[in-house]
Amino acid sequence: MRLVTVYGSPTPPGKMARALGLMEKGVRDRHPGWSVERIGPRDPGSPVVADWDDDAVGLIGEADAVVLASPVYRGSLTGTLKLLIDMLPNEALRSKPVGILTVAAAPQHFLSAERHLRDILSWFGALTAPNSAFFVDSTFRTDEVDAEVLAALGEFADQVVTLSESLNGRRFGPDPLTVRYARKTAG
Ligand SMILES: Cc1cc2nc3c(=O)[nH]c(=O)nc-3n(C[C@H](O)[C@H](O)[C@H](O)COP(=O)(O)O)c2cc1C
Repeated sequence: MRLVTVYGSPTPPGKMARALGLMEKGVRDRHPGWSVERIGPRDPGSPVVADWDDDAVGLIGEADAVVLASPVYRGSLTGTLKLLIDMLPNEALRSKPVGILTVAAAPQHFLSAERHLRDILSWFGALTAPNSAFFVDSTFRTDEVDAEVLAALGEFADQVVTLSESLNGRRFGPDPLTVRYARKTAG
């Protein structure tokens, strides 16, 4: 099975990259039936935004599960990640398990990107994993990472993998609002 991780930061490598790398390692170490492929933006055109190759869209569509990883920027997800999300067809994430992994400088911003991503994912009819992972960026300042952090990243990864394995390709209704609206305007 195939996990696609989306590295939504325009400034590689950074704390987000480290958190995501540790999570990906957890999947590779503990779930041999899974492949893990990371997609990331092209070289940034500015310090805060970067765009994506078209094949990123196809990889997400073909994935059995997806992890969206974003640093908190201005109390939300990055513009870079939003650019990719806006390129996705309506069906790309339908009934697909999607985990949310975020980092921020301030602990009180722990829900900032997550809550916006949850809104967007429900627009797609995605199966958003109930437990997101959030860390303060200083957690990944050095090579030493607390066992507690590694355990949380492992549990987060296991959750997304287990959700996907349990689904067996099932789709869930009712259709997301966008699908129902499109049907109404077409008819
Ligand atoms: C443009 C910009 C906006 C940011 N906004 C916030 C914010 O609103 N709240 C916060 O806690 N951290 C904020 N940060 C800090 C980043 O979330 C944090 O440093 C993160 O680790 C940066 O991602 P990176 O590790 O990929 O470089 C911001 C950083 C940048 C560059």
